[in-house]
Amino acid sequence: MREPRRVALISGAGRGIGAATARELGRRGYHVVVNYRENTAAADRVVGDIREAGGSAEAQRADVCDGGQVADMVRRVYAAHGHVDVLICNANTVNPPFAPLLSLSWEAFIGKVGGELAGAFFLTQAVLSEMRRRGAGRIVYISSTAADWAGSVAAHSTAKAALNTFSRHVAATAAQYGIAVNTVAFGTVRTDATAGVLHEDLRRYTEERSVLGRLLDADDAAKTVAAVADDSFGAAVGQVIRVDGGYDVLDQQLHPTSKFFQ
Ligand SMILES: NC(=O)c1ccc[n+]([C@@H]2O[C@H](COP(=O)([O-])OP(=O)(O)OC[C@H]3O[C@@H](n4cnc5c(N)ncnc54)[C@H](OP(=O)(O)O)[C@@H]3O)[C@@H](O)[C@H]2O)c1
Repeated sequence: MREPRRVALISGAGRGIGAATARELGRRGYHVVVNYRENTAAADRVVGDIREAGGSAEAQRADVCDGGQVADMVRRVYAAHGHVDVLICNANTVNPPFAPLLSLSWEAFIGKVGGELAGAFFLTQAVLSEMRRRGAGRIVYISSTAADWAGSVAAHSTAKAALNTFSRHVAATAAQYGIAVNTVAFGTVRTDATAGVLHEDLRRYTEERSVLGRLLDADDAAKTVAAVADDSFGAAVGQVIRVDGGYDVLDQQLHPTSKFFQ
């Protein structure tokens, strides 16, 4: 008898990193639930691509910042499939405001921080009890290396730093039930979200400081997320894994002891 497909729920999977991850998990044999907020055509395209490649997928519209909509969506998924094996909290719920700190309004600041956490919080609570009952499951949060920045994109940095901390609390709560929780923090990835801000100078600056010598694209990101979501990622829990094409390596200051090892 054929094994039933494992079920992966990906928030914000109509476009960008989420869409590429949906296609990657579809190729890996998951039934993929493609969550999105409003762009039905984009989500349907992802579902179509997965099915055309021989996989299985469905689109589910829900605003993940709305606890009621998340609960309804997860209820529909349980009614059809019984469980969720993998949750990827990816939705780009609020585009970062790029105003300097002193001209950043409270509304813009808390809108970004609150939106980021709402999506993660509601989705996590909606799936965790059922995962706990089965004693299995994997959750991956999509964060940013900006969580460690200072002096730039304050709202985005604060939101992602808070997400990293939240994910570690979930990991600590869930590990005893056999649920692995990790976070992937990306550097700049070419998606709709970065298209408007990645002007020529910034792109060149970022590429020159990357060991890969290029920006990541959504397919690069998707392969990493799929690997972290896989059981073969093993006993890693509560980790924040930085994936930025090596930008971080070049950005590190030399440790003071380095002069003794020339
Ligand atoms: N791109 C980067 O450089 C980068 C770097 C580090 C981390 N990240 C993180 O990676 C994640 C994905 O970013 P991306 O660049 O792929 O974004 P994107 O291209 O802007 O795609 C965003 C997706 O999220 C969905 N979405 C937005 N708000 C939602 C909501 N409230 N409920 C449900 N779905 C919602 C959108 O749905 P619709 O299509 O319906 O609008 C869309 O499918 C984000 O968490 C982002 O912070 C991105």
